[in-house]
Amino acid sequence: GGIALNANASTGNVSGSSDASLVFDPAAYTELTTTVTDTEGTEHAVTYHFWKAITYVSKPVDATYQSLNVSVPVEIDGTAVDASNAPILLANSVGGYMPSSVADATGIGGASMGGGAGDGAPSGAPTASSSAGSSSASPTASASASAPGANGNTNATGGAMNTNQLLALAAGYVVVEPGARGRGLKNSDGEYYGSAPAVIVDLKAAVRYVRSNKGRIPGNVDRIVSAGTSAGGAVSTLLGASGDSPIYAKHLKEIGAADASDAIFAVGAWCPITDLEHADGAYEWNWGTNALSTGKQVDQTVSKDLRSQFAEYQAKLRLRGLKDSGFGTLTARNHDEYLLKQYMEPSATTYLAALSDSDRETYLAKNTFLTWDGEKATFTWDGFLTHVGARKKTVPAFDAFDLSAGENNEFGSATTANRHFTAYGARNDTTGLSTKRVESDIPELLNLMNPMYHLVEKVNGKRSRHWWIRLGTNDTDTSHVISANLAARAENLGDEVDHLYYWDEGHGANTDPGDFITWIAKVTG
Ligand code: DHB
Repeated sequence: GGIALNANASTGNVSGSSDASLVFDPAAYTELTTTVTDTEGTEHAVTYHFWKAITYVSKPVDATYQSLNVSVPVEIDGTAVDASNAPILLANSVGGYMPSSVADATGIGGASMGGGAGDGAPSGAPTASSSAGSSSASPTASASASAPGANGNTNATGGAMNTNQLLALAAGYVVVEPGARGRGLKNSDGEYYGSAPAVIVDLKAAVRYVRSNKGRIPGNVDRIVSAGTSAGGAVSTLLGASGDSPIYAKHLKEIGAADASDAIFAVGAWCPITDLEHADGAYEWNWGTNALSTGKQVDQTVSKDLRSQFAEYQAKLRLRGLKDSGFGTLTARNHDEYLLKQYMEPSATTYLAALSDSDRETYLAKNTFLTWDGEKATFTWDGFLTHVGARKKTVPAFDAFDLSAGENNEFGSATTANRHFTAYGARNDTTGLSTKRVESDIPELLNLMNPMYHLVEKVNGKRSRHWWIRLGTNDTDTSHVISANLAARAENLGDEVDHLYYWDEGHGANTDPGDFITWIAKVTG
C-alpha cells in the first residue's frame, strides 16, 4: 500500500488513508428516496445518497461482512439539506454475536444476519423506487425476538435499529451501517474466523475507515454515535469504552484497518448483553429464583454458587449509585433496592402516568403487586420478580456446562467451536474437557470483549463520554444489573448517562427512538 497515501491531501480537509483501497469515492452513490414516518406519525419524504457494500479493510477475511453502507440525506420534505457536518449514526445490526452483512441491502436499514442466524431481516427496508410508503419508522417500533439459538439466544436486531437509522436519516444525519464477522463463520480449511474478538475488531476498522475518509464521507467524523441492540448493544458499548485502546492493534493490523483513531463520540445501546464473564452470577442474583417457562426451577446449588460469585464481583467494582439515586456503594445486598428505586418504579410510573384513567385502572386491577398513589408506582423487588415471571435461560446462562450457549461459541477458537470462558464453567464441564480449565488465550479475549475492562480495570481516556442505554423491564436475556453497572461506572467517571428501562417491554425493545434522535442532537450540538 501507500501509493495513494494522502492522494487528496491538497484539499487540506481530508486525511490520508493507509491504503488506496480505503479511499472512499464520493461519486459512487445511487440516489434513493424513502418515506419515513416520525414518532408523531408525520411522513417525511427523504432523498438520500446511498453507497453500497464498501469494504472497509484492505485485507478482508470476508468482505461479505467487512463492508459498510453509507446513507446521506440530500433533500427532506422538498428542502435541500447539507449533511457534510452532521452527526454520523454508526448503526450495527449484530445479533446473537452472529455475523451481520449489509452487502445485499438495497437501501438504508437493509442489513441481514448471516451464518444461519435466522431471518433477522428488518421489515420496511426502502427500495430504489420513488414510491410512497416504502419504509416507515413507527413511534413505538420494537423488534421482537426471532430465531432462537442455543440456550434461548435470539436476535433482537431488525425493527428497532432500522427505526433508528430511518429517523436519523430524516433528522438530517449521516447513517453508516457496518457489517461484521460473527461466530460460526467457517472457511474452506474448516477454521472458524468470526468468533471473539472479530466483531469488535471489524467495528473498530469501520470507524477507522470513516475517520480516515474525513472530508470524503459526508458528516462529522468527531461526532460518531454508535447504536446496536443486544449483542449489537454490547459491542456498541464496547466500541465506546475501548476507543483507541492499544490491545486491538495487532488484530486491526492483520485485517488492514485504516490508520486512524477508532474512538467514537457517543454510545447508544439497547439491552446490551455484555460483561459476559460475570453475567452468569449477575443472572442468578437477578433471576435465580424465577422458574423457567416450563415451570421448573434451575439447579439452586449452582444458582447459589454463581450468586456468591456475583456478590464478590459487585464488591470489587466499588460502584456508587447514580448521582440522583441517594445510593452509596452498590453491593449484592442493596442492588435490588437500587434497581427498584432508580429504574423499575420510575419506569412503571412513567408507563402508568401515560395511560388513560380507565386503562390505568384495568392495569392496576390485573397487577395487584403494584401500588399507585395517584402519582407514583411502588412495589417490592419480589413483587417485580413475580411479575416478570419465567426466566429465559437455564443455569449457567452464559457459560453453559455443556457448551450449548451462544457465548460458548463466541469464545470458540479457530479449531474449537465452543469453549468455556469462566473458571466455574470449565470446572463443571460436562463435555469431557480433561483440563477443567479455560484455555490460555481466554483472559485476553475477555478483555477484548468487555467494556468494563476499559472502564474499570483501565480507565480509558479515549472512551465515549455520552451513553444512551435502554432495556425492557421484562428482558431476562441478561441481568438488569449489567446495564445498571455500566451506567453507574460511566457516570461515576464523570460521563453523561441517559439510562432507563421500558416498563413491561421485552428483549430488543426501543420505544423512544425519537428521544434518541433528539439526544444525539443535544449531545453532539
Ligand atoms: C443476544 C441474546 C442473548 O440472549 C445473548 O445471550 C446474546 C445475544 C441477542 O439477541 O443479540
